[in-house]
Amino acid sequence: MSQRTLVLLKPDAVRRGLVGEILGRIERKAGWTISALELRTLDRATLEQHYAEHVGRPFYEPLMDFMASGPAVALVVEGERVIEGVRTMAGPTDPIAAAPGSIRGDFGTIVRENLVHASDSEESAEREIKIFFPTLA
Ligand code: RTP
Ligand code: MG
Repeated sequence: MSQRTLVLLKPDAVRRGLVGEILGRIERKAGWTISALELRTLDRATLEQHYAEHVGRPFYEPLMDFMASGPAVALVVEGERVIEGVRTMAGPTDPIAAAPGSIRGDFGTIVRENLVHASDSEESAEREIKIFFPTLA
C-alpha cells in the first residue's frame, strides 16, 4: 500500500549535522522516494497549525521555541507503508527508551530534542503535507 508521510528533521538534527545521515536511512529503504524537500526556519503560525493537538500541554511552549530555534528540513516521503515505516525508523518519542538502530535511539537523549517528526496516520499525513507543502498535489 503506497502512502505519503510528512517528515521533519528538527532543528537539533540540522544543527548537529545529521541531515545526511537521516535522509540516507530514508533513501536506502527499498522503493521509498522523497517527493518534496525544503530547508526552512519554521514560523510560529506554521508550528501552531502543526502542533494544534498539543495546545495547553506543559511541553507546548518549550516545544514551539525549540522548533523555531533554527532551520529544519521538511520533506514528503512516498512509498510502501511509509507512515508506519518512518515512525518505526524514528523510534518512540523518548530517545532513551528508543532502541539502538532507530534514529532517536542512536542520536537522541532528551524527549524534546528527538531529531525527527513523522506523521502518525493517513489523516495526519494529509493534514501536515498541506501545511508544509500547500502546492503539492
Ligand atoms: P512527533 O509528533 O514529533 O513525530 O513525535 P511523537 O508523535 O513521537 O510525539 P508527540 O507526543 O506528538 O509530541 C510531539 C513532540 O513534542 C515533544 N515532546 N516533549 N514531555 C515532553 O517534554 C515532551 N513530550 C513531547 C517531542 O519533541 C515530541 O516529538
Ligand atoms: Mg506526534
